[in-house]
Amino acid sequence: MQGKRILLIIGGGIAAYKSLLLIRLLRAAGAAVTPVLTRAGAEFVTPLSVSALAGEKVYSALFDLTDEAEMGHIQLSRVADLIVVAPATADFLAKMAQGRADDLASTLLLATDTAVLVAPAMNLRMWHHPATQRNLAQLRADGVGFVGPEAGEMACGEFGIGRMAEPEAIFASIAAALQSGPLAGRHILVTSGPTHEPIDPVRYIANRSSGAQGTAIAAALRDLGADVTFVTGPASVPAPEGVRVVRVETAAQMLAAVQAALPAEVAVMAAAVADWRVANASGSKMKKDGSGQAPALEFAENPDILALVSKGDARPRLVVGFAAETDQVETYAAAKRLRKGCDWIVANDVSPATGIMGGSENAVVLISEAGSEVWPRMAKDAVARRLADRIAAALAD
Ligand code: CTP
Repeated sequence: MQGKRILLIIGGGIAAYKSLLLIRLLRAAGAAVTPVLTRAGAEFVTPLSVSALAGEKVYSALFDLTDEAEMGHIQLSRVADLIVVAPATADFLAKMAQGRADDLASTLLLATDTAVLVAPAMNLRMWHHPATQRNLAQLRADGVGFVGPEAGEMACGEFGIGRMAEPEAIFASIAAALQSGPLAGRHILVTSGPTHEPIDPVRYIANRSSGAQGTAIAAALRDLGADVTFVTGPASVPAPEGVRVVRVETAAQMLAAVQAALPAEVAVMAAAVADWRVANASGSKMKKDGSGQAPALEFAENPDILALVSKGDARPRLVVGFAAETDQVETYAAAKRLRKGCDWIVANDVSPATGIMGGSENAVVLISEAGSEVWPRMAKDAVARRLADRIAAALAD
């Protein structure tokens, strides 16, 4: 980020205040910020606060004689390493999709060939409207990158997708967009960690996954320049820096987060997803009734996230699954690859004697259409780097 210049267009919307925090994050990381405030944006944050945080002049008018004399709008659009629009309203997206140039911000976007990253923010009905979805598809086809929006409560009181991504998530996307490396600009989804399936508000069913292998894979992909979305269950190792982290607890939440993160060019599904959830989970804490009778838990099968992604409409170009087996590792894993419809399976033996589950090393077999490849036992970080290199090579083909 050091020495990079971001042209930040702040559009109209209550989320504009988050862009002030974004400016602080960028400056703290050593980037310079050229702020452009749209007329609507200036209704939500003041030019003074934007300029004070950016430490630079705020640009807003298209026909400003002083600005034109100092730095014309064409020049302004070309000095940046990346243009970020945050928040981008439905109206602004429509304008961008049409290629209109009726104010400074839209003119800059039309006059540039610099990469553009957009953080939309709008009411959920506006987001789901076919016109907005059409504009998004057009902008994606034009090569515009997106971060968010996220699901949550909105300023208007409604609940759903449309909230602008948090400043940290936008920062991570900016960092990824500025990366160089064989996976630069590639969006890769990684799932990791266990899931917790509630029995009642205080008890849950879990598994021994630490999240170490998925975390190492996300970091290795990031190091090759990928823009990583990391969907993680409650893992015992910290999430990597510089990736977009989405925290979930249950398999159902993981599925929703994965679907919201698509499209992606690659999906690496390293999470140890619980196969079953408790169908009769209690909304209040289960109590002993003194009869000595244990509660009878009923189970329902969880959706298979890997199979749904592999067979879904938004299928990534490369889908990598994992297989945790205790017997006949290669045979079961090869059958799993076909059954789930993924391209590769990273199979490992999780028998307690191997010490792999929860340990720092892994011994894997990579199974693809071409056959099986046995990798020597090595640190999980080394497995991750080797897998990331293989992914980069596959995308380069
Ligand atoms: N997986 C998933 N959703 C599930 C279960 C598993 O996406 N509900 C994914 C895991 O992330 C992993 C792969 O499927 O990439 C294989 O997981 P594994 O637990 O080994 O397989 P199972 O589906 O449990 O198959 P089996 O019960 O036959 O071992």
